[in-house]
Amino acid sequence: MRHERGGDVEAEQGPRPEAPSRRAFSRLLMAGSGLALGVVPLAGCSPEPGGLPSPAAGTPPPSAGTVPPSPAAPAEGTTPPSEGTTPAPVPVTPPGSAPSAAAPGVQHSLSDPASPWVVVNKHRPLSPADYVPADLVRPAVRLAVSGEAALLNSTTAAAAERLFAAAAADGVVLTLASGYRSFATQTATYGGYVKTRGQADADTASARPGYSEHQTGWAFDIGDGGGACSFQPCFAEQPAAPWARDNARRFGFVVRYPPTFEGITGYYYEPWHLRYIGVEAATDMANRGIATLEEYFGLEAAPGYL
Ligand code: DAL
Ligand code: ZN
Repeated sequence: MRHERGGDVEAEQGPRPEAPSRRAFSRLLMAGSGLALGVVPLAGCSPEPGGLPSPAAGTPPPSAGTVPPSPAAPAEGTTPPSEGTTPAPVPVTPPGSAPSAAAPGVQHSLSDPASPWVVVNKHRPLSPADYVPADLVRPAVRLAVSGEAALLNSTTAAAAERLFAAAAADGVVLTLASGYRSFATQTATYGGYVKTRGQADADTASARPGYSEHQTGWAFDIGDGGGACSFQPCFAEQPAAPWARDNARRFGFVVRYPPTFEGITGYYYEPWHLRYIGVEAATDMANRGIATLEEYFGLEAAPGYL
């Protein structure tokens, strides 16, 4: 592995160059995404009231009970939702247990934050809430951030290195735009969103502290090497996004918040947010046409906090 232990090295490169016209806007989004050039980014990166569009402009906010059509049969134990109907919630998988029929092969916990299959959503907070991965490292990839935001857990870091290298071989430059976020950073990030956009809107884009995948080290946000549209809806049209959508599975990643599934995941489309679950599971999920971890692991939709 080429990555280095977290906290003992300097960033390989600073923030990506930006056109002045994008700089202020990007700062707003950096706050919501927990980008950490320092530990708490809000002082210089707070969204300005009225100045930040919704991450998926034009799509309605998620509402409890609204579930999009399921692209495929979900995992065993669930009833496939049909268009316009609300599936009966299934029990949340007990701590320490694994899905009954998700991926073939080795099964992992859905509740242990150190598990590659941990499912964190608005119904499933991290336990403990202040969890810190024991193996944070800085991957040897192109960085758009420094400090804790450049860290990932060691498994995800190694997979990210393979992902970034494969993208580069295809002529697509990815950057690591936001990796690990501590509970404290997520508190500041979410608080900034609430302050400027109100809690209801904040909850469609930023996880409350203790509810973010970023705190596990299993997730990170990518940027495009061209520097355009970071954390904006137009990122979906940058080269990095379609490449990641089509190839991330080969390296064990899924696009965790796919378009039109906010009624299940609780968040608008985030083409930049990748989540590691392992090659076997990510490939199986794609082959079965399943878009969300909630469906794949047979868990209830989590459009809002309980
Ligand atoms: N933007 C994702 C949902 C997070 O804050 O973890
Ligand atoms: Zn993210």
